Order: sequence, then C-alpha cells, then structure tokens
Amino acid sequence: MKIRIIILIILVFSFFSPLKSDEIFVKGKEIFLNAGNCATCHSLKDAGSVTNIGPNLNEIRPDMGRIKNAVVNGIGVMPSALGILTEEEIDAVSYYVSISSNE
Ligand code: HEC
Repeated sequence: MKIRIIILIILVFSFFSPLKSDEIFVKGKEIFLNAGNCATCHSLKDAGSVTNIGPNLNEIRPDMGRIKNAVVNGIGVMPSALGILTEEEIDAVSYYVSISSNE
C-alpha cells in the first residue's frame, strides 16, 4: 500500500515539474519575440531571429547570470529592460535564452 503511494507521488512529480519549467521556457520565448524586443537585435536559432545588431546568442552561449545582468543593466547600446519587463518576465526570458542558446 505504501509503495503505491510513493509511486503515485513520483509519477505526479515527474509529470508536473518538467511542465512547470516548460511553461517558463514558452513564456520566455514569447517575451524574447515580443515585449522584450530581443529578436530585433539578436540572432537565436530557436526563436528564428536573424539579425546582427547584438551578438549571436548561439555563439556567445551566455549563462543565466550574464543574460540577466545585460537585460537589467543594459550593456553598450543595448537598453535596460527595467520598467519595460517585470522581474518575473526578466527571469523567464533569461531562462529561455540560457537554455535555447546552449542547445
Ligand atoms: C537595441 C538592440 C538590442 C536589444 C533590443 C537587445 N539587445 Fe542584447 N545586446 C545588444 C548589443 C549591441 C549587445 C552587445 C553590447 C556590448 O557588448 O557592448 C548586447 C548584448 C547582449 C548579451 C551579452 C551580454 C554580455 O555580457 O556580453 C546578452 C545575453 C543579451 N544582449 C541579451 C538580450 C536579451 C535577452 C534581450 C531582450 C530582453 C536583448 N538582449 C535586447 C543589443 C540589443
């Protein structure tokens, strides 16, 4: 009886956890293409964007910290997204770029 409950718990968790991070990925992609305007300046294969105002994200393969820093503070001609994106949206787009640029 106990073992069934444990198996059930494992099944429920393995079903819901990937789904949750998937949702953030999809949300991040949406922000990359729309509200965040990232696709206007950055090439990223997963997003289908081809431009070279900013560095190609598949080439620099930035980690979460580096992306978040650029988005929050701005870097060079890249404007800060503070006041345009919420902190949650910044986290989502950073998550999306860190995963998709490393594939
Ligand atoms: C107006 C064009 C523009 C927009 C919009 C833009 N970027 Fe950038 N981005 C740049 C440029 C240019 C650089 C290079 C800056 C430099 O190194 O001087 C850059 C650099 C970066 C870097 C590298 C930072 C580093 O440490 O080298 C990342 C990551 C990045 N952008 C992600 C994003 C994301 C995510 C978005 C959307 C929220 C975005 N950018 C929106 C132009 C843009």
